[in-house]
Amino acid sequence: MIKIGVLGSGTGSNFAAIAEAINSKEIIGAEIAIVISDVKNAKILDRAAALGIPNKYIPADDFKTKLDGKQEQDYIDALQKANVDYIILAGFMRMIKGGILNAFPLKIINIHPALLPAFPGLHSWKQALDYGAKYAGCTVHFVDAGMDSGPIIAQSAVEVKDDDTAETLHARIQVQEHIIFPKVIQLIADGKIKIEGRKVKIG
Ligand code: GAR
Repeated sequence: MIKIGVLGSGTGSNFAAIAEAINSKEIIGAEIAIVISDVKNAKILDRAAALGIPNKYIPADDFKTKLDGKQEQDYIDALQKANVDYIILAGFMRMIKGGILNAFPLKIINIHPALLPAFPGLHSWKQALDYGAKYAGCTVHFVDAGMDSGPIIAQSAVEVKDDDTAETLHARIQVQEHIIFPKVIQLIADGKIKIEGRKVKIG
């Protein structure tokens, strides 16, 4: 059984999809040990509470886009106390750097709303739309010290329609996110993921 810690700053729909997949036994061999948010009233915390999953608001510096210093240590302490094997970033809007990466080497996984390496950073679905891309999508990847740059585990493409708005495109991308993220968790629980340099081999 692998224990997962989920970090999120917002709505928590990816967290909810994973929790639901665990509850319905679509995912076997994984449990969510703790949900942590850097946003006090984030919906992800309410969702965790409603499901009876331990959850915690741990403040992080308002003026920083990364997690570091004392606050990073608070996150590491909470995750270690919960005995987590893997950390899932489900809409966590801060960069993950040295300390936490060293504490959980190759154990941190992020979902990004674009077909990486295209459109890293923020509001990636909007970046794809504004750029005129014909396909957008989502990527699940290991986290390294760069921005959205770690080895890719899974991707799903979504066609961009002429009448898409940022909202309609993001909504279709999220449908795919809620499919591929639980699948990746199952692969991890089954020990089926191997990293060879930049490449992730499955099976
Ligand atoms: C998701 O679309 C996720 O890909 C994105 O935030 C959203 C969170 O939604 N993440 C990033 O942009 C990370 N840079 P959720 O809170 O409903 O799961």
